[in-house]
Amino acid sequence: MPNAQALAAGPAEPVGLSLFFQNGTMAPITIVGDAPRYLQEIDITATVMTNTDQGIMPVVQSSEFSSLDWKGITQVEEEWRAAGDGTFTRQRFYRGAAWMEHDSNFLLFPTDSNGIRIGQPLLSHAGKDDNRQPSNDGAVRRFVARQIATGCRAVGDCAGTTFTSQGLAQLRDALHPTERSGAIPAQATKLTLQWTEQANTPRTVDIVHAPASAYTFGYGFQLSLEVISTPVRGFYVPGEQVSFRLTFLDGQNKPLHPQGSLPTFGQFLRGEISSGLRYYDGFQISPTLYYALKHREANLLVTLSGPINMLRTPVTVINTAQSLGAGPAIWTTAALDGFSDVVTGVPPFSIIFGGFANPAIWDTAVSDIVTFTIPADAMPGTYVAAMKARREFGGEALNRATTTTIQVGTTTPSLFTARTGNCTNCHTGQRDLGLILHGITDRRACFSCHASLDVEPDNALDIRVHEVHDRSERFPADIKNCMLCHLTSVSRPARGLLGN
Ligand code: HEC
Ligand code: HEC
Ligand code: HEC
Repeated sequence: MPNAQALAAGPAEPVGLSLFFQNGTMAPITIVGDAPRYLQEIDITATVMTNTDQGIMPVVQSSEFSSLDWKGITQVEEEWRAAGDGTFTRQRFYRGAAWMEHDSNFLLFPTDSNGIRIGQPLLSHAGKDDNRQPSNDGAVRRFVARQIATGCRAVGDCAGTTFTSQGLAQLRDALHPTERSGAIPAQATKLTLQWTEQANTPRTVDIVHAPASAYTFGYGFQLSLEVISTPVRGFYVPGEQVSFRLTFLDGQNKPLHPQGSLPTFGQFLRGEISSGLRYYDGFQISPTLYYALKHREANLLVTLSGPINMLRTPVTVINTAQSLGAGPAIWTTAALDGFSDVVTGVPPFSIIFGGFANPAIWDTAVSDIVTFTIPADAMPGTYVAAMKARREFGGEALNRATTTTIQVGTTTPSLFTARTGNCTNCHTGQRDLGLILHGITDRRACFSCHASLDVEPDNALDIRVHEVHDRSERFPADIKNCMLCHLTSVSRPARGLLGN
């Protein structure tokens, strides 16, 4: 029985733990306080680069993943995309190896400075690729391999370029956080991950402990997007400016940064952001729809789109180079897509990409205020603003989002009519859209960020949602049953389905 004092304070909420082993190594983790932990995000990659095209043989034969059982490995997809610099990137995706399909478990053992196991291990049951069981611990399980060929001169011609072969074991979004949580003893100095598929390849990360009092904030992550401008007439009009203050808080509403400014991109690159707020992190990890590490991309975006009764997957393909200005870029227009959409990166894309030519740009101050000009052709109605972000603090990683609305041209609210839905037939509890991926439940917001990009055609919302469910062997229904999600009849084929 807990004593009265413990009851008054309440038991410490369990906190997720995120692991990312790249070729067997991982940066040390600071464990803050003594809350119980559970395995929330496990990513293991093995990567080999070569100058000749050997498929994924380098990772199969001479990598940290070589001792895995690769029997059954088959190429399942090939795709080409423009890199934006005149070259093309080819990716080939592989599945079906025994280690990808098997039922496997992860066990995380705390050990002391003598390497002796202490306390209980944390368990995460990955389960099988194609047979979800109630005991499985991750909402998302993606065990795959890929080859990336960068700098190809033309589609079909990758001679003389660089080839990366990579195996990826990705398990995330804990389904039983409370039941599977356990203490990490204060004497533990390392955590060792044992994967039943690779019994002789322990992976170890150093840990240090810090008291919760060492920080002005704790675990958890909440975002706020607050309108701080006042429209002249009670609603905004085309040409008028609307400003939002971006606030990042921990789970107890404690701010992560003093009001007025945010860390610089340079501080992010140098690992100096103690709050753990992340900025765009795609350069090193090549995140790719469904297959690879999208949850780690951490692309911090703020958007404004509407009117909400006109929202749909944009047909416009965004010219990324033109979106790299210092301010927000117009992605869709009323004329072309039936609605207006303005988008900015935080920091602005001009800083993130501009630093490659001149690294000093990465230390440009970043404001916590984003100002959008209402587009000249914006139609009257309700507009939705959205923001998403990632935080990695004390071993916990969280992707979260928020939305708010403003009125343009009228005080009359518009009505959003979803053409797709039923998502909560499957996405409830720990699978809630507010907890998985980027933590966005407001389905009005999806359209603004998800237009095809010239460098990433599959960013379009329909392709994204079709593809993640189609590629999953764990989707408990037939993706060809369109009415599973579609609320109105569909007259066109679905983009993003294999073999369509
Ligand atoms: C029949 C069940 C089912 C329905 C209905 C469903 N989903 Fe899913 N969804 C899943 C499963 C299972 C996965 C996990 C796939 C995996 O492990 O790769 C998933 C994954 C996702 C992901 C990706 C998470 C990630 O980290 O990549 C998103 C986003 C998503 N669903 C959104 C939606 C939306 C939006 C709808 C409604 C339009 C919807 N889903 C309807 C079962 C469903
Ligand atoms: C504020 C911008 C923004 C909004 C709003 C947004 N997304 Fe995303 N989404 C992204 C970005 C950026 C990524 C790439 C990964 C990242 O940076 O988190 C992404 C990734 C995805 C993926 C790929 C997942 C994978 O595993 O490959 C799916 C599916 C997706 N989003 C669906 C949705 C749905 C459904 C909604 C609405 C409920 C939505 N998104 C709203 C920006 C957004
Ligand atoms: C897992 C859920 C899901 C299933 C199953 C599904 N779709 Fe979709 N589909 C979506 C989502 C989400 C969107 C984009 C959001 C929206 O338009 O509401 C979309 C968009 C589309 C669009 C583009 C609509 C537009 O004009 O913007 C078409 C066409 C489409 N789907 C066809 C199909 C067909 C055909 C099938 C069956 C073979 C199918 N879809 C099955 C979720 C699904």
